[in-house]
Amino acid sequence: MWVKPFDVFQVYYANECNECIFLDVLYIQPAFIINVMLHLKDIEKSYPDGSNANDVLRGVNLSVAKREFVAVTGESGSGKTTLLSIIGTLIKPDKGVYLLDGELINSRTNIPELRNRKIGFVFQDHRLLPQYTLQQNILLPTIAAQKKATEEQVTYAGFLMNIVGIASLANHFPATVSGGEASRAALCRALVMKPVLLLADEPSGQLDSRNARNTIALLKKMNTELGTTILMVSHSKESVAEAERVLTLKDGLLS
Ligand SMILES: Nc1ncnc2c1ncn2[C@@H]1O[C@H](COP(=O)(O)OP(=O)(O)OP(=O)(O)O)[C@@H](O)[C@H]1O
Ligand SMILES: [Mg+2]
Repeated sequence: MWVKPFDVFQVYYANECNECIFLDVLYIQPAFIINVMLHLKDIEKSYPDGSNANDVLRGVNLSVAKREFVAVTGESGSGKTTLLSIIGTLIKPDKGVYLLDGELINSRTNIPELRNRKIGFVFQDHRLLPQYTLQQNILLPTIAAQKKATEEQVTYAGFLMNIVGIASLANHFPATVSGGEASRAALCRALVMKPVLLLADEPSGQLDSRNARNTIALLKKMNTELGTTILMVSHSKESVAEAERVLTLKDGLLS
């Protein structure tokens, strides 16, 4: 039997005039497209910096398999949040190809719908909305998706709050809880839709060692029991030790 080693996957995108523009050829093993959660090829991102450009990502390549738990480390300012934001479809790369769960992310993608359906994002600075209680914040993605949280989702939010130890704070507003409690609520918000991909930017950064351990244990549980793929940025050796693979971002490249 002859087995074709690679499929040629041609990548096109639509420009402003809706013309189909050839972008790249990816040589992909047929099994790869089924097993891969995300694939980045030659991702570049610069920010303007006075008259110069700050080239933060200089050709990042990354493949993360479904159900994998990957950690990213790197010095402050090395571009970890920028990379996670591109993967989370919050910002666009200047160049490169991004495939998420078999879908090419391009100008035709319904980004808000895709993000809400597939990705949970834990921000480095939690970004809870001050006018809502912790429970309401946690349920916001469900409301964005279908106007009203189902009873099952409300119960699931309670289950998540219980695990991370903030159940008693459900009716508190973000301004009246500690930074660590707010980041635990932000983790629950990222998980409430049971995303296939969880992106966590320093999820245990503001926590004491017991709550940091609980948080990482919850991530591990989501990973092993629900099969959630996790990409986590962390400086903590203890947290990173739970990941299957640890990558370092340095000089705009991931290795
Ligand atoms: N919106 C922006 N506009 C301009 N420059 C930015 C912007 N966001 C980030 N930068 C710059 O890009 C570089 C990478 O920032 P980024 O936040 O991705 O780093 P990081 O690795 O997450 O750092 P930390 O560990 O401190 O969170 C830094 O030099 C930062 O100043
Ligand atoms: Mg950061």
